Amino acid sequence: MTDTDRRCDRAAAVMETSFITAVIRAAENDRPDAYLRDRHASLLSTPRSKEMARVALAAGGTIGSVIVRGRFGDLALEQAVADGVTQVVCLAAGSDTRAWRLGLPARTRFFEVDLPGQLEAKELLLAPVEGRLTCHRAALSADLRSETWPQRLRDAGHASERPTVWIVEGLMPYLGAEDFTRILTRIGELSGRGSVLLVDAPHPAYAEDPANERFLAFMESRGSAFRPGPDDFAGLLGRHGWRAEAYTLGELAAGACAWLPTPPARLCPPHDHHWLVRARLS
Ligand SMILES: C[S@@+](CC[C@H](N)C(=O)[O-])C[C@H]1O[C@@H](n2cnc3c(N)ncnc32)[C@H](O)[C@@H]1O
Repeated sequence: MTDTDRRCDRAAAVMETSFITAVIRAAENDRPDAYLRDRHASLLSTPRSKEMARVALAAGGTIGSVIVRGRFGDLALEQAVADGVTQVVCLAAGSDTRAWRLGLPARTRFFEVDLPGQLEAKELLLAPVEGRLTCHRAALSADLRSETWPQRLRDAGHASERPTVWIVEGLMPYLGAEDFTRILTRIGELSGRGSVLLVDAPHPAYAEDPANERFLAFMESRGSAFRPGPDDFAGLLGRHGWRAEAYTLGELAAGACAWLPTPPARLCPPHDHHWLVRARLS
């Protein structure tokens, strides 16, 4: 196998994680006591992605961070839109279906960015609900580790002097700290006053908890190594000019976030150490 083959395999393994999250959201949607409703996730939940999710969950993967960040992000996005924000940029959008399911106002411009091939695959699977898009959506294929995506975003009509809601969910575990910091810098440069950033990452305690050893080894072996985020997420964002509310899943389960319905204990097991953050540009 050449180096290029190995890089392609790693990219495919990382892209597949997005179909695993779709299966997790589809299963949650079907529960009578669902904490998150994503009625289009089942369209992305193919037999192949269901099998990938089964294997990942059997290896010790958890569903809580995916489901709780989904509800956290829905509510924060809806609040920002109600406050008048008309631009949304979802980085590493993968199987995110918010542009289709939240009934966003027609004036909303919803930009999605992911690796080449990813968003095209989603669009094919979501073709049956194409008519549900109420906002203006633009899909961009780009590697967020490159320096090309900010210009591509501008070319697609993003106006950096105006406020934006940034959604960066499920990306950080697949990037090094350096790449993530560079992306934060670019986000800051593209954000007008009043912008909102929604971001999540595993807490460093995730990697230290022996209960997660098997899952971390599994993710490494499949070519999508899962890395922890910062130990002080609010502090990191503060150095980039953002005023952040950062919660761990455990804190959310204890009712720490006033605007989020307290997630049930089944979604916040003690070993799922995970950050969820909403930040505003000060
Ligand atoms: C776990 S999925 C999360 C997808 C979606 N945000 C969600 O919460 O379901 C990770 C996503 O990150 C994307 N991704 C990983 N590395 C990337 C990169 N360097 N540039 C762009 N997208 C990337 C993958 O293709 C995949 O869609």
